[in-house]
Amino acid sequence: MPDNANERMDKLTALCKRRGFIFQSSEIYGGIGGFWDYGPLGVELKRNIKNAWWEDIVRKRDDIVGLDCSIIMNPKVWEASGHVGGFSDPMVDCKNCKARFRADKVCTVTFHDGDELLLHVGVEGDTENLKDVFDAATAKANSKTRRRIEKAGENLKAECWRADRQAEVALLCPNCGGGLTEPRQFNLMFETFIGAMQDSSSKAYLRPETAQGIFCNYKNVLDTTRIKLPFGIAQIGKSFRNEINPRNYTFRSREFEQMEIEFFCHPNEADKWYEYWRDARYQWYVGLGLTSSKLRLRDHEPDELAHYARACADIEYEFPFGISELEGVANRTDFDLSQHQKFSGRDLSYFDDETKERFVPYVIEPSGGIDRATLAFLCEAYIEDEAPDDKGQMQQRTVMKFHPRLAPIKLAVFPLVKKEGMPEIARRIYEDVQATGMTAFYDEKGAVGRRYRRQDEAGTPFCVTVDGQTIEDRTVTIRDRDTLKQDRIPADEVVAYVRQRLG
Ligand code: GAP
Repeated sequence: MPDNANERMDKLTALCKRRGFIFQSSEIYGGIGGFWDYGPLGVELKRNIKNAWWEDIVRKRDDIVGLDCSIIMNPKVWEASGHVGGFSDPMVDCKNCKARFRADKVCTVTFHDGDELLLHVGVEGDTENLKDVFDAATAKANSKTRRRIEKAGENLKAECWRADRQAEVALLCPNCGGGLTEPRQFNLMFETFIGAMQDSSSKAYLRPETAQGIFCNYKNVLDTTRIKLPFGIAQIGKSFRNEINPRNYTFRSREFEQMEIEFFCHPNEADKWYEYWRDARYQWYVGLGLTSSKLRLRDHEPDELAHYARACADIEYEFPFGISELEGVANRTDFDLSQHQKFSGRDLSYFDDETKERFVPYVIEPSGGIDRATLAFLCEAYIEDEAPDDKGQMQQRTVMKFHPRLAPIKLAVFPLVKKEGMPEIARRIYEDVQATGMTAFYDEKGAVGRRYRRQDEAGTPFCVTVDGQTIEDRTVTIRDRDTLKQDRIPADEVVAYVRQRLG
C-alpha cells in the first residue's frame, strides 16, 4: 500500500475504534485473527445496509421471496456443491520462518544484467500486476544493487515466477528469504461434530456460503408459494471460511455475512437476466452513495470463469489497500440444481404449465458480502474538511458522509445550555423522533461545536439545537452535516423535515 493509502486506512480504523463502529473480536484477550465485532454505531450501519438490501430486493419486488436457512446442513450438501474436495486454496509454507501464503499471491523475482544475477527475492503479489511486483522486488534491494538495476537499462532481464506455477529458480519467502514448500491444498471449510461422537460419521461443516441453503429449499419455495419462473430467493446470513490470510481489516474475514440472491429462470432467458442483475446490483451501490470513480464493474475474462459459470462480473471498489471485489454476479447455469438432483435423488426440474415444457432452471446469482459493503461505505464516507468552531474560526474536521439511509444516527438533538427550559424541549423533540422508529441521539454535554464534531464523526446527517429563540417562538435550528447550512424551523416540524430529507 502506498504511504498515503496506509495513512488513510490507519485513520479510518482509528476512527472506527474510537467511535464504536468496529472492534477486534475478544480484544481483551489479544483478539483473534479474522474475526471482528461491530460496536453501537457499526451495528446500526450494518443493519441499515442489510435492511436497505432486504427492502429493495425482497419487500419491494413481486418476483423475489426471502429465506433463512440453518448454518449447519447435511454434509452431503457440500459434496454436491463441490466444496468438499474442491473448496481449497493451494498454499505454500516457508521452511524457515513457517509463514504461510496463498500460492497464487506470492512471487519470486530475479533481475539479471546480461548473465549476471543482480537480485533474487520473494515478494507478495500477483503476476497480473507485474509492475507492482517488480517495484516491490526493487524496494528489497540494497542501494548498490538498486543503482545497478537502474543502470542496466535495456540489458536488464526481469523475471517473475508465481509460487503455484513451474519455476526455473528456487522459490523464496517474502518474509525472510527462506525456501518455500511445494503448493499444497488447504481446505477452507470449518469443521465441527454433531452429537457426542467425534468421528467421520458425525462430521459437519459451518456453511461457507448461504447459496446452498437456497438451492436445497428451491422446491419447498415453489410448492408453498406457487411462485412462477422467473423468480428469485434471497437470503442474508453468516458464512464461515477458514481463510489462510485474513487481512485488510474486515475485508477478508473468517466469519462474515453474505447477501445472496439465486434467481431462477428459463435457460433461454439467462443471458438477459444476467445482464439485468449485473447492472441492477451495480446501480444499487451507486444509489446508496458509492458514487465515486472508485466503484467499477468488471466482466470476467473467459479464462477466469469457474467451470460451471457461463458469465461472471465483479462489482469492485478501490479500497485504500487496492481494488477488490464487493459482489460477484454469475450465470451459474443449471449446475447447482443438477448437482443436488444427482446427489439427493430428488427431482428439481420445473414444469411450465403454459408451454408444457419441463426443464432444470438456470440460475443467476448476485452474491455480495455485507462486511465488505460496510467497509466500502465507511471508506467512501470518510472525509476531512473544514468547519467553523464556536468562535467562527475554521477548524479541520473529520466527517463521515454516509448516505442518510445508511447513517447510524439520523438526528441529534442538543439544548444550547442546560437551563432555561431548553433541556426539556430538546428531550421532547428527541423522544418524538425516537417514537417514529428513527435513530436519534440526545446530547447536552460540552460546547455545542464539540457536540457537532462528535456527530460529524458518527455521520449523523442532521443536528437540531434548542436555543434562546426556541423559548420565545418555538423554533429550532437544524444543521445539515454536509453543507453546514442551518435552517430555522418550527420545533413541531422536525420529524416531518427529517423524514422528507431522508427521502
Ligand atoms: N455463492 C457464491 C459465493 O459465495 P464468493 O465470491 O465466494 O461467491 C461472495 O463470495 C461474496 O462474499 C464476495 O463477493 C464477498 O463480498 C463476500 N466474501 C467472500 N469471502 C469473504 C471473506 N473471507 N470475508 C468477507 N467477505 C467475503
